[in-house]
Amino acid sequence: MMLKGKNILVVGAAGLLGREIVKSVIREGGQVVAADVSAEALDSFSKTFGSSAFESVEIDITSKDSVFRAIEFCERTMGALDGAVNTAYPRNKNYGRKVLEVTHEDFSENLGLHLGGYFIFMQQCAAYAQEKGEPFSLVSMSSIYGVMAPRFEVYEGSNMTMPVEYAAIKSALLHLNKYFASYMKGSGFRANSVSPGGLLDGQNERFLENYNSHCMEKGMLDPSDITGAVNFLLSDSSRYMAGQNVIVDDGFSV
Ligand SMILES: NC(=O)c1ccc[n+]([C@@H]2O[C@H](COP(=O)([O-])OP(=O)(O)OC[C@H]3O[C@@H](n4cnc5c(N)ncnc54)[C@H](O)[C@@H]3O)[C@@H](O)[C@H]2O)c1
Repeated sequence: MMLKGKNILVVGAAGLLGREIVKSVIREGGQVVAADVSAEALDSFSKTFGSSAFESVEIDITSKDSVFRAIEFCERTMGALDGAVNTAYPRNKNYGRKVLEVTHEDFSENLGLHLGGYFIFMQQCAAYAQEKGEPFSLVSMSSIYGVMAPRFEVYEGSNMTMPVEYAAIKSALLHLNKYFASYMKGSGFRANSVSPGGLLDGQNERFLENYNSHCMEKGMLDPSDITGAVNFLLSDSSRYMAGQNVIVDDGFSV
């Protein structure tokens, strides 16, 4: 019961990782508001998990007003917020092209949506924490591709790549943690991130073999393999961690 008594907002809650994070925060005794841009996906998650387990709210992290309203909703339904997890994954329709085909327009739009959205969310959490004068832990989802160069050979024989926007976004996010940690010094606001390795999601055998050959034990991970690090960063056990990044990748980046 690492998170007993904690009120946590989980954003991107209807996604692959978000669903697991919601379940695991609840298992650890926390109270959750699950937030996502897709009302439909939230609704279906809430139905499968049990609609009384958590409250849900729509949020678009690229809109300051929407983030503000979601935080207000949390206060109304749970009381003061102790922390938040941002695991949203905004991207435009051209996202995922190979680097030599990416236009300036698409690059900028994807940075605006994803990095810009994570910035707005971080800014609004920091503003909330400052107003309340209470401790607040924000965990943002980065990636191993925010800390290491891509291993393009693992994508050979598949139509996947590691998008260039992703590298720019996820690495910049690590520095935003440090920026906010420094700016908010003495306020109790903590910004940290978790950088998962690849998560199992129906990828083909050849890709899995390529990828797994760089790992120590399991290879591609399940979303439930990431939640321990998230809970730790949300909890008081990490009280003196700020501006940091925790890599959970079964050694892929070593
Ligand atoms: N899946 C992986 O292998 C992997 C690995 C490392 C890091 N990550 C990171 O983890 C996070 C979650 O990944 P995932 O695989 O669960 O993605 P996903 O696409 O399954 O889920 C993302 C969720 O974010 C929501 N979303 C999109 N735009 C939004 C917006 N503007 N505002 C609020 N919510 C929005 C979507 O509706 C979706 O429910 C991402 O930031 C991703 O970069 C994923």
